[in-house]
Amino acid sequence: MDARQMKIKAAEAALAHVEDGMRLGIGTGSTAEEFVRLLAEKVADGLRIQGVPTSERTARLCLELGVPLKSLEELPELDLTIDGADELDARLRLIKGGGGALLREKIVAAASRKMIVIADETKVVETLGRFPLPIEVNTFGLAATRIAIEKVASALGLTGDIVLRGAAKETFMTDGGHYIFDASFGRIPDAEALSNRLHAIPGVVEHGLFINLASAAVIAGPAGARMLTP
Ligand code: A5P
Repeated sequence: MDARQMKIKAAEAALAHVEDGMRLGIGTGSTAEEFVRLLAEKVADGLRIQGVPTSERTARLCLELGVPLKSLEELPELDLTIDGADELDARLRLIKGGGGALLREKIVAAASRKMIVIADETKVVETLGRFPLPIEVNTFGLAATRIAIEKVASALGLTGDIVLRGAAKETFMTDGGHYIFDASFGRIPDAEALSNRLHAIPGVVEHGLFINLASAAVIAGPAGARMLTP
């Protein structure tokens, strides 16, 4: 089974949790896009859902495939969000934001009663941090914000490159008009402490550590999909 097939397997298994009438948060990324394709088939067959997309990119795909959308303003409380992740541990703590949609993804997940993560088994790690942590920052005061991030990380024994996404060519801008620093700290033993300290930095808009948000994860491997709960 290749990587794409595993993503489809995870998306298929998550689709079984979508019920008629649900208000559904719809994630961003290549795995979430497989979910959107399968969801669109169900919608064409008569499934009634109202989707809230976590990015402009996901919104475009949903519109193209006929998945009905609402904004989070119109539907501020959701039944379920299905989204991918860049990394997850056994306690269902996640790193997200590889696709740059972490802020809306976190807002949508927090507005949902449940969040199911869909991923292939290569994303499961013992300790978070193999994937560089995306940190969404205000465009004002970038240098000061970077120094503040370095200081809080160093206080937790974390060091590593902090790279402005896209800086070599064209700086990547999020749907919310912010920039992203990708922080290669390596293993993050205390994700909660890092999360709290990053939130305390004024220039940090949000970061990609998702803690206490996922209710379950569908992990696909060559042998099929399994469900992980915290
Ligand atoms: C988007 O910002 C991310 O959080 C994605 O959910 C995450 O990067 C997973 O993407 P893939 O399914 O493409 O690996």
